[in-house]
Amino acid sequence: MNGLLITFEGIEGSGKSTQIELLRTRLESLNLPTTITRQPGGTRIGESIRKIVLNPKNTALDSRAEVLLYAADRAQHTAEIVQRELEADRICLCDRFADSTTAYQGAGRAIDDADIHWLHRFALQGCMPDLTLLLDLPEKDGLARAAKAGEPDRIEREALEFHARVRQGFLGIAEQEPERVKVIDALPSAETVAQSIWSHVSPVVERVR
Ligand code: TMP
Repeated sequence: MNGLLITFEGIEGSGKSTQIELLRTRLESLNLPTTITRQPGGTRIGESIRKIVLNPKNTALDSRAEVLLYAADRAQHTAEIVQRELEADRICLCDRFADSTTAYQGAGRAIDDADIHWLHRFALQGCMPDLTLLLDLPEKDGLARAAKAGEPDRIEREALEFHARVRQGFLGIAEQEPERVKVIDALPSAETVAQSIWSHVSPVVERVR
């Protein structure tokens, strides 16, 4: 199998969407078939789950219900989209994946590590990213950028301390899995960030070409 799963992670306002589009353009210019997808969402069922978890009116959502909704989205998305793309030897670029649950629900909401690990095992059935690009920046800068993009969703409305825990959660994953997770400084210009991303993507792509 020559497919690749490359995931983008980071706090709010880290510029993932811009960078995913830039990477797709670059990969397609090399004739590498590429698909962009996202979590939560990417499937019809997942988009319904996305509406529930991001709706600012859902302030009553319990943390355990929240983590299960994200896991349900991931199980559906992996079975319906990711597996299919990898089997078709495509490069699948996913805007958020399991690390977001570890960071937001694990570090952010203090859900037990063991529970998070079990949920990943159950939802992913062994489907792990080949490479993860963690776009890192201070939470204050990220939230300021996100605020420019419009009305904040349920998660963006969380306190600065929550986003600080999420950022540290992501950095903790990168420390534990340096081979898979590459930390990218997200503060410079989009062009500079794209170059830095490419320096990590190109060797991985070379392996399957
Ligand atoms: P985004 O895709 O526009 O960044 O929005 C998704 C939001 O959901 C974002 O605030 C991060 C959050 N999220 C979690 O809390 N847990 C998860 O597992 C995932 C995938 C996203």
